[in-house]
Amino acid sequence: MENRENFKSRIGFIMTSAGCAIGLGNVWRFPFITGQYGGAAFVLFYLLFLVLLGAPIMIMEFAVGRASGKSAVRSFHQLEPKGSKWHIFGYFAAAGNYLLMMFYTTVAGWMFSYIFKSARGTFTGLNAEQIGGVFNTMLANPAEQLFWMALVIIIGFLICLGGLKNGVEKASTIIMTSLLFLMLVLVVRAVTLPGAGKGLAFYLKPDFSKMAQNGWGEVIFAAMGQSFFTLSLGIGALAIFGSYIGKEKALTGEALHIITLDTFVALMAGFIIFPACFAFGVNPGQGPGLIFITLPNIFNSMFLGRLWGTLFFVFMSFAALSTVIAVFENIIAFAMDRNGWSRKKAVIVNIILILLLSIPCTLGFNVWSGFVVPKLGNIQDIEDFIVSNNLLPLGSLLYLIFCTSRYGWGFDNFIEEANTGSGIKFPRILKFYVSCILPMIVLVIWAVGYLQKFILK
Ligand code: ALA
Repeated sequence: MENRENFKSRIGFIMTSAGCAIGLGNVWRFPFITGQYGGAAFVLFYLLFLVLLGAPIMIMEFAVGRASGKSAVRSFHQLEPKGSKWHIFGYFAAAGNYLLMMFYTTVAGWMFSYIFKSARGTFTGLNAEQIGGVFNTMLANPAEQLFWMALVIIIGFLICLGGLKNGVEKASTIIMTSLLFLMLVLVVRAVTLPGAGKGLAFYLKPDFSKMAQNGWGEVIFAAMGQSFFTLSLGIGALAIFGSYIGKEKALTGEALHIITLDTFVALMAGFIIFPACFAFGVNPGQGPGLIFITLPNIFNSMFLGRLWGTLFFVFMSFAALSTVIAVFENIIAFAMDRNGWSRKKAVIVNIILILLLSIPCTLGFNVWSGFVVPKLGNIQDIEDFIVSNNLLPLGSLLYLIFCTSRYGWGFDNFIEEANTGSGIKFPRILKFYVSCILPMIVLVIWAVGYLQKFILK
């Protein structure tokens, strides 16, 4: 087996983990889910969940990764009490990483194709409705989507082939820095558009009556799902980066840095999208096509808009790519840890596997569009639901129990690992909260959400 690499620098660790967290969840899923569930009131719950659930669970994932020095598939073998079966969960975590990529690569492909559409001037002179038409034409074309999806997969794996330091860490750091800069420029443009005020009100002024219309249980369930999705929690995707760092820094501070960066990007994406929706008469509740239909309008109204539009989709693609790279790194590490494969072999096998697994999502928009599950939707909706509303919360629940129960790794081992190193420590006083209250919160929201979505509606 090859020697296990470590990150070159702390900033590389933070940027790679932030790259794993920051992605389509922030710039694509957050705006459209917020739009569907009524705006500001949903955002409040989302923020609450990031703090109440996201932070402790992220610290736990890093702690499991760092203490075991392994990816999710092997970490439980390393830390579980003798004779227990926690390691079976490792395979669910691995499945979660694959399932996430099964629809993520298609949407990342949309982003890539929009770089070229913007650069070619496809949107120039079109009105909001015609811009929507460009998106729908793309969805109807399987060959076009398969091409872009395959390109994303090949680029992602080629970067991972370069190794942790020279591939994943370097690419993530460059991508994240550029992304943060460009977002600021776009926020300034969006909030100064004529008519932006209504969008800001939709985004910032909670209207709880809208929550009641959607059903409180379902909205809260969706907010929890989004907070897990945006942080990539529950499938060990972040845990692995804990396995590539030393013990110099306590883990709470590191997790807080990553959550702050992630939340900043999601909130900024909202500041770009919602003012633009209202300024151009685009319905914010229309679902997954939202940013593809809204953003080109902003660029059409900007000085040098074609250039900005192209750059924007370059960086959106990069945000998606940084998550793709991070999750591919997990997928590669599973094969290296479990089967003792070389990085090269793991890359080759997984390129083929991920290409095949990503096809159903792409075809779900055209050839297989007749395949729809009532109350869920097309193949992408189904895959997203399985991951965001099931594997991520339930996986997070298992990480929680593993790190707090004496039948798992246990609270004392967890807190010792989390608090090793300098910086903010995890407060011991939270033991009751993380071991009793938090698992209940996750379980109850998950159960009520199901009830509301499938039975009461
Ligand atoms: N956390 C990843 C994202 O937000 C999955 O895109």
